[in-house]
Amino acid sequence: MTIGIGLLGLGTVGAGVAQILATPRGRHPLVGELALRRVAVRDLQRARPIELPSDLLTTDAEAVVDDPAVEIVVEVMGGLEPARSLILRAIAVGKPVVTANKAVIARYGEEIAAAAAARGVYVLIEAAVGGGIPIIEPLKQSLGANRISRVSGIINGTTNYILSRMADEGAAYTEVLADAQRLGYAEADPAADVQGGDAADKIAILAALAYGGSITRSAIPTQGIDRLDARDVAYADQLGYGVKLLAVAEQVATTAEGVAELDVSVNPTLVPRDHPLAGVHGVNNAILVEGDPVGRVMFYGPGAGAGPTASAVVADILNIAGIRQVSALGTPEQPVPLDPLLAAGSWRPCRLVDSAQTRHRNYVRLRTSDQAGVIGRIGTCFGDAGVSLQSIVQFQAPTDSEGGEAEIVVITHEVQEACFRQAMAAIEALPVVASVAACLRTL
Ligand code: NAP
Ligand code: HSE
Repeated sequence: MTIGIGLLGLGTVGAGVAQILATPRGRHPLVGELALRRVAVRDLQRARPIELPSDLLTTDAEAVVDDPAVEIVVEVMGGLEPARSLILRAIAVGKPVVTANKAVIARYGEEIAAAAAARGVYVLIEAAVGGGIPIIEPLKQSLGANRISRVSGIINGTTNYILSRMADEGAAYTEVLADAQRLGYAEADPAADVQGGDAADKIAILAALAYGGSITRSAIPTQGIDRLDARDVAYADQLGYGVKLLAVAEQVATTAEGVAELDVSVNPTLVPRDHPLAGVHGVNNAILVEGDPVGRVMFYGPGAGAGPTASAVVADILNIAGIRQVSALGTPEQPVPLDPLLAAGSWRPCRLVDSAQTRHRNYVRLRTSDQAGVIGRIGTCFGDAGVSLQSIVQFQAPTDSEGGEAEIVVITHEVQEACFRQAMAAIEALPVVASVAACLRTL
């Protein structure tokens, strides 16, 4: 029984999907049952990495969704609109959807899940987080019995690729970013990668699955790597750390009313060299899930690129195709029953905790006068605010600095953010402190 696929987008991921569908030999037998019926693109003249019959391509994306020969809609065009409307249009006519679009799911996931539940269709999103790594289905199903305390990891391939090459080869940021774009890792607008927005979209999705309720995407504190100074990567290295863009979602409390209070953020973070996340290099991603009673489980693999992402997209298509095969259901008139866990929807309210109440270790780099007593005065500011220090080191001032300047790097113990901010305000006001040159998290 052939199943008609409508592809919205034939870029990096779409071409990867078409490539798998065109080469079923040696794969799961159901791949051979999937037939590409229509493909939406923006530019019909553009050269493609895969050759398809020209009558398959159209610039009319709605026509792909509406085509009676299309039974599963695969949205890999990216962006918020028209992607969101096309997903809702497919659901409205009872067609299951597979999407890799984390930007849409992080912002409109609740609306889409509600529409899918009302219509009784699947919306599967494995490719939206972690590229080729299976993480959505494990969180939804295999780890469903756990109380999740923390989900953390490297979930943006582009920035991990950039940081790895900067650290390993001393490569220039702009040059490596251009390579990441050429290799198909980066978003259409790479600002989403380097400013941390893509990782924030993904951690919003993982938090919603892990904690059972959606959180406001725009409220996630997000810092990217675009303003990261190579000096901090070098100092971190000398102190025994690598720098990684980490996304973290952690449950810090439950209110009397049962609301899960979460600390969710994206930050460039110093990771001790012996930590499992420090060994994740290049385009690879890794996600560490900590739960009771499972303990620590780590998911690792390629986090971006055509092949890995298409692997996740096609797995979702096969999931739907498999269910349709064993069921008499699954036509637009008689859709498959919704994924039972998704049908349960949000099972408890979640909210982000006030960031001043969160606790972290911090790395601070200060430019100061190079004179007696400076380290003492800085130490006093931290002590007065109740911030305990792990180390305070003076490095040689950079060559571009004023004469008589020093660079001081401080790593704190885990402290409350409010106390840390109080100490930093006092330090900035010290006449001997020229500037706070960097402020990063430490794992
Ligand atoms: P891409 O290379 O920019 O491809 C986008 C495709 O969509 C292009 O073929 C484009 O047509 C088409 N398109 C865009 N807007 C359209 C519109 N309004 N009507 C018709 N066609 C339209 O993007 P990508 O890297 O494949 O990413 C696609 C999605 O997957 C995004 O949501 C992205 O976040 C997600 N994703 C990407 C990766 C990755 O490694 N790249 C990994 C995981 C998830 P033209 O070719 O004619 O311009
Ligand atoms: N731009 C994204 C990344 C693609 O680099 O991780 C995978 O979601």
